[in-house]
Amino acid sequence: MKVNLLENDFISVESELEIFIVDDLENCDDKEILENIGFEEKDESIAFLPEIGRIYVGFEEHDYESIAIAISIAIKKFKTTKFKSAKIELKDLDLKALVEGTLLGAYEFNEYKSKKKKSKKQELNICVPKITEEIKEVFEQSKVISKAVNKTRDIVNTPPADCYPKVMADIAKKIAKDSNLECTVHGEKYLEKNGMNAMLSVGRASVHESKLIHLAYKPENAKKKVVLVGKGLTYDSGGLSLKPADYMVTMKSDKSGGSAVLGIMSAVAKLNLPIEIHGIIGAVENMIGGDAYKPDDVLKAKNGKTIEIRNTDAEGRLVLADCLCYAQDEIENIDYIFDYATLTGACVVGVGEYTIGVMGNDTVLKRDVVANTLQAGEYATTLPFNRFLRKTIKSEIADICNIANTRYGGAITAGLFLDNFINEENKDKWAHLDIAGPAFVEKDWGYNPYGASGAGVRATLQFLKNLN
Ligand code: BES
Ligand code: ZN
Ligand code: ZN
Repeated sequence: MKVNLLENDFISVESELEIFIVDDLENCDDKEILENIGFEEKDESIAFLPEIGRIYVGFEEHDYESIAIAISIAIKKFKTTKFKSAKIELKDLDLKALVEGTLLGAYEFNEYKSKKKKSKKQELNICVPKITEEIKEVFEQSKVISKAVNKTRDIVNTPPADCYPKVMADIAKKIAKDSNLECTVHGEKYLEKNGMNAMLSVGRASVHESKLIHLAYKPENAKKKVVLVGKGLTYDSGGLSLKPADYMVTMKSDKSGGSAVLGIMSAVAKLNLPIEIHGIIGAVENMIGGDAYKPDDVLKAKNGKTIEIRNTDAEGRLVLADCLCYAQDEIENIDYIFDYATLTGACVVGVGEYTIGVMGNDTVLKRDVVANTLQAGEYATTLPFNRFLRKTIKSEIADICNIANTRYGGAITAGLFLDNFINEENKDKWAHLDIAGPAFVEKDWGYNPYGASGAGVRATLQFLKNLN
């Protein structure tokens, strides 16, 4: 789907279809027929009038979410037709919502269908009487943001046989080339040499070599320095603490955090952000085998802390532990350090499958992350640390344990585990985003079709854009 912004009045633009997003039928040309066929000015109500080439969609609130959902419903209908072009009048609708709703809603992942759909090359024309600089900028940025989300979706949706750590590293290199970023990829020798035994152990039973990927965008006169760390488990079988069969399906999505970081990094240069941004991805596959790490093992992380393993399925935190250490050792004077991970099923149970769980030590930062996430059209809430939950990951024989001794608060105890790998000077600069719920969509919602959603990408780009 292509989206164009046209400076023209609606009537004179030639398109085969017209799309109307309406919250009031009163002044509508087709009021009578729409009422007769039971159309309502309500969210998710749609009417297609093929004889006159019109698609109507209802909406109730004038917010981003309602408009984005409404246009995505219209676009899905448009896609079922043979028409090549459709038009919509911008009026007082939110342009960002129109563009993102269109491009995110039109997304399909067809790589693995043997019968390739012929690409129809359809386009949506958004008509505005006058294109101001501001309108143009919103339009261009929304396209870049949507592309970044869809890129992340493509990576996450790719099956584990075709997307393993080296492939993620190759994608990073390609992004670096396209956007003029620095890119370093470290293999297992580096992990071993640098004491990153936690990350190294997780990948030990895999036939695929683990990769530590480091992308950097360094514009001149950068105002701030931000580090993004992503969990890139290209597959999470659970390891020796093997997942039950039903829980293993969809675990190709355990690379969603790392893929979000890749998507974000693909957009930062195009958005001309005046910020130094580092993207660090721990790309690893968690498998079983004679060489697998085991419950009862004690691993030493890069910062010297020892970790008692009691469950090899709590592997993401081990990979992130070393990646967080690496980030803080390599990069000085960090202003913000965020990590993204499909870390716990507990987070999904706690806040539902649509919402990101935001954790950390600084209340203001957490609120800021949540506010930007909501503004960007994603869902997030904070989850609170406390001293008692902190105690539940103590170990009898090592510094800490990789699982808690309680069944409750699993998202938070995982967050508290990561806190052990945040240096004192960065405590208040760190936020942990558990994206286990929204990263992978099993029942489509809003403009998110089945599969990866690209969770965290819009949220972070919004945060970076608002940073000053
Ligand atoms: N990748 C999973 C978490 C997950 C679950 C992501 C469902 C997406 C959907 C993670 O590595 C994991 O297995 N976590 C365990 C932790 C437990 C062993 C303490 C979990 O959540 O069950
Ligand atoms: Zn796991
Ligand atoms: Zn995992």
